[in-house]
Amino acid sequence: MSDVNILEVKNLTTSFRTEAGKINAVDSVSFNVKKGKTLGLVGESGCGKSVTALSIMRLLPRPMGTIEKGSVLFHGNDLITLLPDDMRKIRGNRIAMIFQEPMTALNPIQRIGKQLDEMYQLHNPDVKKEITKQRSIEMLMKVGMPDAGKRYDEYPHQLSGGMRQRAMIAMALICEPEILIADEPTTALDVTIQAQILDLIKALQKTTGMSIIFITHDLGVIAEICDDVVVMYAGNIAETGPVEELFAHPEHPYTLGLLSSIPRLENKRKTKLRTIEGMVPSLYELPPGCRFQNRCSFVMDICRAKPPELSQAGDNHLVSCYYVEQRK
Ligand SMILES: Nc1ncnc2c1ncn2[C@@H]1O[C@H](COP(=O)(O)OP(=O)(O)OP(=O)(O)O)[C@@H](O)[C@H]1O
Ligand SMILES: [Mg+2]
Repeated sequence: MSDVNILEVKNLTTSFRTEAGKINAVDSVSFNVKKGKTLGLVGESGCGKSVTALSIMRLLPRPMGTIEKGSVLFHGNDLITLLPDDMRKIRGNRIAMIFQEPMTALNPIQRIGKQLDEMYQLHNPDVKKEITKQRSIEMLMKVGMPDAGKRYDEYPHQLSGGMRQRAMIAMALICEPEILIADEPTTALDVTIQAQILDLIKALQKTTGMSIIFITHDLGVIAEICDDVVVMYAGNIAETGPVEELFAHPEHPYTLGLLSSIPRLENKRKTKLRTIEGMVPSLYELPPGCRFQNRCSFVMDICRAKPPELSQAGDNHLVSCYYVEQRK
């Protein structure tokens, strides 16, 4: 079962129209999510991780954000072209998302329990109220919420950051989704709570068999919990492959840069990567050729002329780099 793809993202291209012009925040991105496995999306701030997630969920800010091209196959159905009503039946139910900032998902003026109940009832309208309440409290217990029964009646502002994160995870998991998209779910939390939440997500995956798309800045976290990884740079995929393969044989100069800047345990809170010199190019002024050229120590003439394409670097291991290609 491990190699069945539950989600196939193909050539996904998402644009934003702004006053400064139109940009592709995600440009021809393809990857597969395997059943029961965890795929990591990693890259510096602004590389298109959240936009990829929001495109899959069809939650792009309107009207600026548009999916220009590509498909997202879920059980053979293309989510991109689904009718809004059909997408609503999938979102939160079969594919759910947890956000970096819990307050984007939690309603500040509604009790936690009511929010959980409503999420469940939206997709299970025939289940009785008392049963739903029971399920919500059980879910809060499952995600390690202390005093779950009492928290059920509280408002988000009465909870600590870690508890809010747990409440949001409970809300994402209450319908037992087949895919959980976790967008930097632990960045805002302190180290101990981060570790607890990661353990919790792993444990829940073991019991439910769900697939996970895990978004993070931190390759250390990827190594810990992912099976496959996609390294993104300025809206493109720089490198992708199984985690062990990619950590044993990293190829792309950008991946090498990320690996050398894995935060150490003692300063794990500073998860923003900062040791690769130079800056990500503005999507409004992309250079011709490779998007990483201005920061790359191995840059060659061809890198400035035309963009590299992903090519095979090992088993299921793809890299988009002329320097790597030329060495093979
Ligand atoms: N609403 C928007 N309007 C215009 N541009 C946007 C909008 N949202 C995102 N972008 C652009 O899309 C690009 C990708 O953004 P995205 O949020 O996906 O980055 P990210 O990889 O999730 O970064 P971070 O690690 O900081 O969360 C950014 O360059 C950003 O400027
Ligand atoms: Mg993001």
